[in-house]
Amino acid sequence: MNYIKSSVLKIKKKIIYYDYLYRNLSYSEIPDYEYDKLLNKFNILKKKCTIIKNNIFNKIKFKYSNILNFKKKTHLLPMLSLKNTFNIEEIYNFYKKIFKNLKKKFYLCCELKIDGISISLIYKKGNLIQAITRGNGYLGDDIIANVLTIKNIPLILKGNNIPEKINICGEIFITYKNLKNIKKKNNSFFSNSRNIVSGTLKNINSKITSNRNLTFLCYNVNFSKQKLFNESHFECLKKVNKWGIPIHNYIKKTYKIKEIKKFFFYANINRKYFGFDNDGIVIKIDSKKIQNKIGCNNKYPKWAIAYKFKSQEKITKVINIVFNISRYGILIPIAYIKPINILGSKISKITLHNKKNIEMLNLYIGDSVIVKYSGDVIPQIIKVILSKRTKEAKKIIFPTLCPICNSKLKYIKNKYLYKCNSNLNCRIQLQEKIINFISKNGFNITVIKRNIVFELIKKKYIKNISDIFKLNYKILSRLNTINKSLLYNILISINKSKNIHLSNFIYSLGIENVGKIISLNIANYFKYISKIIYADIKEINSVPKISKKISLNVFNFMKKKKNKIIISKILKHVKIFI
Ligand code: IVH
Repeated sequence: MNYIKSSVLKIKKKIIYYDYLYRNLSYSEIPDYEYDKLLNKFNILKKKCTIIKNNIFNKIKFKYSNILNFKKKTHLLPMLSLKNTFNIEEIYNFYKKIFKNLKKKFYLCCELKIDGISISLIYKKGNLIQAITRGNGYLGDDIIANVLTIKNIPLILKGNNIPEKINICGEIFITYKNLKNIKKKNNSFFSNSRNIVSGTLKNINSKITSNRNLTFLCYNVNFSKQKLFNESHFECLKKVNKWGIPIHNYIKKTYKIKEIKKFFFYANINRKYFGFDNDGIVIKIDSKKIQNKIGCNNKYPKWAIAYKFKSQEKITKVINIVFNISRYGILIPIAYIKPINILGSKISKITLHNKKNIEMLNLYIGDSVIVKYSGDVIPQIIKVILSKRTKEAKKIIFPTLCPICNSKLKYIKNKYLYKCNSNLNCRIQLQEKIINFISKNGFNITVIKRNIVFELIKKKYIKNISDIFKLNYKILSRLNTINKSLLYNILISINKSKNIHLSNFIYSLGIENVGKIISLNIANYFKYISKIIYADIKEINSVPKISKKISLNVFNFMKKKKNKIIISKILKHVKIFI
């Protein structure tokens, strides 16, 4: 038993060390498979030894822990909110009021206001022992199992003079880059990044939390030793940062209002380049001693204020819901809204993604809603104002038939999506596939514009992507959408396109999620189209940077007889090079 115990302790030490490097310094000293091997060994020993299971193992951070206990816990110190303003006058007033009270110059600390979910982390003797959500400010959920999966939160603090107990408060959020990845994988059933973070943290499967790659940044620190309260807030953040706690480096200590205005101005114009949702700056009195003297009311500290960026949110009304079909046959609900202008862009329609999103929003036609730019690029409905719902509001009913070709839609339960399986017999799917086929990354026949494609399909000159090569003078001259000079240009362009790089050829087939980069990787790996058509899933999986999901899409596409026929028809006209 002693032997097992000592080897377990050795492994524990190693795992914690590698975790520390990875989480704090983004550095892996060993390859992933070595790390996984170590974890496996650890799990085998755990099963062998039930006695030590309860005392040693429970204290170890498991990357994929499934233990979830959302027990309610009381905060050591209340987690307060912040007073908000959009107005510089109020910042002057905030400053003047404190100056009147102190009668001497004082430092302020400016930081970004991160739009995520706040969390309080407790470190005892340098070990993370508790992670509680804000809750009602006094009582929150203990979500330690999920917080443990956040890579940049250290399990153990490293360094000297670490106090007995530290309360680290900060924000958990998701970067735009990770948000994009999640939306790709989940067909965007969350309406905004904050919902994703909150949903992810409350997920009972910590493996999902781990895969979502959340990030943490600390904005406030309290130590148990009273004398440390005398320090500067700015210095406290720098200090915990040295021990491994992540902080944002856009931070400034100053006593000049002019500098605060500069800090705000720079943050405002660069807000989307920070790479995550942020909605203003927070200005805090820097001295912990003065903070204590000034104190708090029951809602917010009187020593801090949030100076918010002009709102990106607007209230409008949903006039109607229209259902569209995507290139892959997915039914897309679109909300037509009373047009609004947010930060200079006019918005009149918004994608609602899928059934789940509509249910989560509890959206009815006629509802007043709040619209926001999510990730600063895509307008999203983030909330329904239920108090404004009238009797005339109508429930959104999903169609059972495809709005384009009338065939029966199939519901994909796990994705909350409806799908039309008519493929090329569905006009929109055919139209979008042709547009992809002739796009710049495909055959590059972009002189054929959308309206021409539409007419070609309507007049039944094109029933498939390979029919592009059937177009000739006789057919084109029968179209209303083109004149003579365009006609010649199209013929020249079709002819030129017949010499095509393998990567463009793969892209042109419109395989789900196979974009420019993946097409290039597939082309470079296989070199010949025949090899791709007959490759097994294992081989496709070996293409650099390809995910399992995408390789399966490629494999399934190539497996279908009708796709093989289409490819062979195209190959009669083109010459592929690499
Ligand atoms: S200080 C007692 N600093 O904003 C300390 N809060 O709207 C009060 N937040 O609940 C918070 N960035 O979740 C502070 N740099 C920052 C922040 C920040 C984001 C959040 C925090 C708070 C909410 C209030």
